[in-house]
Amino acid sequence: MTHPATVLVADDDRSIRRIMSEALARAGYDVRATGTAAGLWQLVDSGIGDVAVTDVVMPDGDGIDLVARIKERRPDFPIIVVSAQNTLATAVRANETGAYEYLPKPFDINALKLAVDKALKSGVGEEHRDAEQDEELPLIGRSAAMQDVYRTMARVMATDLTVMVTGESGTGKELVARALHDMGRRAGGPFVPVNLAAIPRELIESELFGHEKGAFTGASTRSLGRFEEAQGGTLFLDEIGDMPYEAQTRLLRVLQEGEYRTVGGRALIHADVRIIAATNRDLRSLVAQGLFREDLFYRLNVVPIRIPPLRERIDDIPDLVTHFLGLAAESGLPAKRIGADALTALKSHHWPGNVRELENLVQRICALYAGEDVTADVIEKELRGFESVGSGPGAGDGNGLSDAIERHLAKYFAAHGDALPPPGLYGRLLKELERPLIVMALSATHGNQIKAAALLGLNRNTLRKKMKDLGLRAVRSVK
Ligand SMILES: Nc1ncnc2c1ncn2[C@@H]1O[C@H](COP(=O)(O)OP(=O)(O)OP(=O)(O)O)[C@@H](O)[C@H]1O
Ligand SMILES: [Mg+2]
Repeated sequence: MTHPATVLVADDDRSIRRIMSEALARAGYDVRATGTAAGLWQLVDSGIGDVAVTDVVMPDGDGIDLVARIKERRPDFPIIVVSAQNTLATAVRANETGAYEYLPKPFDINALKLAVDKALKSGVGEEHRDAEQDEELPLIGRSAAMQDVYRTMARVMATDLTVMVTGESGTGKELVARALHDMGRRAGGPFVPVNLAAIPRELIESELFGHEKGAFTGASTRSLGRFEEAQGGTLFLDEIGDMPYEAQTRLLRVLQEGEYRTVGGRALIHADVRIIAATNRDLRSLVAQGLFREDLFYRLNVVPIRIPPLRERIDDIPDLVTHFLGLAAESGLPAKRIGADALTALKSHHWPGNVRELENLVQRICALYAGEDVTADVIEKELRGFESVGSGPGAGDGNGLSDAIERHLAKYFAAHGDALPPPGLYGRLLKELERPLIVMALSATHGNQIKAAALLGLNRNTLRKKMKDLGLRAVRSVK
């Protein structure tokens, strides 16, 4: 190119318009600025400009609406949207209409220059966008409760601020953490999740920071820690509330100093990671009980994001169900339709297992029911069947039994790293389940084996044999 590229700048705020124009002119571009949507349209319409930077809310129109119009007129014209309306919705809308880039205000002027450079270089930017657009949005749900989450996410999207994601089990904490990474400026780097509840306490340090060969018995080679793995990207400290106290102290020091040593190592390594932590526990109460370091809490709780439980956003259920039906169909299960009465049934459920419970339910229905239409009957039957054991009255924190077992198994497998647990898992797991089940049945029937067998739906001799196998003695209470 012999002459400099022309950048169109549209923003009704005169000082912001000037800052952007001057920075871009200094970067060597020809700049044409305007304070209105009409002004921008006029320039584009007459074939002027190679790229545009536009605000969203202008007195005579909406910059994002304009993007769609411009795309019709000049399909290959890249447009960068800048906005102070920092909702994920704005970001998403900008993306959907085909904006090249979206920068929430306030943005770094260098980020703007970078975006302009990139937009001008990528001649094939359009196809790229379309492919991305086809991808599902990471987070489904447009309820008011989720808007708060999106607003906070959009605000920290382009920063490296430490984020603390809290919420009940299955609400989508990990999904939010991944979205923050994928949509943030470290997207090109790795996203490394560490489940702190799944690592044996004596291995936490070496897991996080790595170790040198021979640092301790069994350390036969040098091993990379998760901090090092996440270099340039995001480290997701999941289940942070379950971190042992000593390990908390070590983590705090690293976060304060930004440097660490591997176990058995000398050299200081600079930690270039963005931290996102998550927990379903009440950290403040853990702090009050002396189980979680207060200073670490404040260090991590820079930007708190609380994900509301599903029962606080039942309006999201139809969208979520459609989404999960789509996923099930993609995975090869038969396609299904869900009726209005079935949705009503879903909306009146309490959802102790949150979005994960809903996802599992949809999957189960797709796999087990023959008909194409999912009726309220089917839903009610599934919900009843699930609830009767998992989350009936007195189920404590109200998490489904299957969910609890699934979580337990996930930790169990994770604790073995790349290796497999010892064989015989099926039998061991059933035993673990049988023992409390039989003990509870016997205790509820005061040791009456006939009643306990009836309660369990087992033959009395079968119960006897099981008690013997499990080493349970028959004790009849006097009552
Ligand atoms: N808003 C959402 N849109 C689409 N899928 C979701 C949403 N929220 C959660 N999910 C899905 O629900 C499941 C549970 O989400 P996730 O693992 O992120 O929950 P979590 O809060 O980390 O749970 P836990 O506390 O048990 O670790 C995942 O399969 C996830 O993809
Ligand atoms: Mg999780």
